[in-house]
Amino acid sequence: MSSAPLIKTDRLLLRRWRESDLHPFAELNQDELVMQHFPNPLTHEESNAMVERIEKAFEENGFGLYAVELNANEEFIGFVGLSVPRFEAAFTPCVEIGWRLAHKHWGYGYAPEAAEAVLADGFARVGLKEIVSMTATSNKNSMRVMEKIGMTRKTEDDFLHPSLADNHPLKPHVLYRISGS
Ligand SMILES: CC(C)(COP(=O)(O)OP(=O)(O)OC[C@H]1O[C@@H](n2cnc3c(N)ncnc32)[C@H](O)[C@@H]1OP(=O)(O)O)[C@@H](O)C(=O)NCCC(=O)NCCS
Repeated sequence: MSSAPLIKTDRLLLRRWRESDLHPFAELNQDELVMQHFPNPLTHEESNAMVERIEKAFEENGFGLYAVELNANEEFIGFVGLSVPRFEAAFTPCVEIGWRLAHKHWGYGYAPEAAEAVLADGFARVGLKEIVSMTATSNKNSMRVMEKIGMTRKTEDDFLHPSLADNHPLKPHVLYRISGS
């Protein structure tokens, strides 16, 4: 497989990460609204370590969680892309599509626009047969994005996230799937 390309859409550029992304990424990872469906907001150190892991995964897999910027002004707004979950569940091993955008950029359809392009790359260039997406059952915005890009949920795929404690409110998760045509 060729190495991860730049992905361009009408309004967005999906690219590898730069030093200048670290600060705005750490800011959005500390925003309680952005992180309300995750166990905790991230510290700056945790946020930076996440970017390191993302970049390592790009090198290993030839795909990853792309830094997303607006074509209009080159502003970094968050990430959309593919990752390989590290935990074990009924549906693993698998490749997951995910997204996280700064709050001021919600509601413009940026996540679905980027995700459509990531799915196309995942099926055509990477050669994946299926891509999944998962989130806590409370995360309706993320489930909306999954539906907008044509992913479907079967309730029998719903699962309890194995990395969270039994009584954690975010433990119940949904799984959406889409296959390449
Ligand atoms: C999920 C997320 C990426 C959606 O991105 P987006 O570019 O806003 O997507 P859309 O514009 O298509 O909006 C999706 C839905 O979010 C909701 N939404 C949009 N703007 C919103 C806002 N400002 N406040 C609250 N909800 C909003 C709407 O229900 C919308 O659905 P609709 O278009 O049918 O009305 C974004 O909400 C986000 O970054 N959330 C935090 C991180 C996260 O939870 N990631 C997923 C973890 S699995």
